[in-house]
Amino acid sequence: MELKVKLQEPTMMDAMRETMWYVDPEIQSLDVAAGVVHNSKWFSIITADGDHHIGACTLYNYDAHEAQLGIRIGDRGYWNLGYGTDATLLLLQYGFEVMGLQRIWLKVLPENIRAIRCYEKCGFTRVGKLALDGYEFVTMEKRR
Ligand SMILES: CC(C)(COP(=O)(O)OP(=O)(O)OC[C@H]1O[C@@H](n2cnc3c(N)ncnc32)[C@H](O)[C@@H]1OP(=O)(O)O)[C@@H](O)C(=O)NCCC(=O)NCCS
Repeated sequence: MELKVKLQEPTMMDAMRETMWYVDPEIQSLDVAAGVVHNSKWFSIITADGDHHIGACTLYNYDAHEAQLGIRIGDRGYWNLGYGTDATLLLLQYGFEVMGLQRIWLKVLPENIRAIRCYEKCGFTRVGKLALDGYEFVTMEKRR
């Protein structure tokens, strides 16, 4: 299957672009309350055709068995076109095959329908709820 994106090590330029994206109030309202982050692996999301940097994704708070997943497509022109789904699939592949994880999970606001649909397309299922920093999240997981 041909994917719409590739994941790359973030560059300094990528980090600067991300800073500009993440002052976007809508993105801030959808992607909230990371909680305490002990460790993380970050990737830039790059379009497969054109090498355009459109977002970032991460596996964080990982140990030998499991990790949390986070993703943001910062360039809104790329929302709803399948780029987030393909980036999530690549990140899952990295977590399961390269890091050897057994479980990858995430938290998402229940009103973030686009993200939930994206995660469902990648095989995540809802497993519970989590209260953090005054927000009520849905938790989802995917096992190897
Ligand atoms: C969440 C995010 C990564 C998803 O990536 P994306 O490329 O926009 O999503 P995709 O196109 O791969 O999938 C979105 C799906 O949701 C669907 N969708 C979007 N809005 C919807 C709505 N209101 N009702 C039902 N379905 C909806 C789309 O149609 C698509 O499903 P389909 O392919 O079956 O048609 C991206 O939108 C993003 O970064 N948003 C801002 C930050 C954020 O929310 N991060 C996640 C925090 S948990």
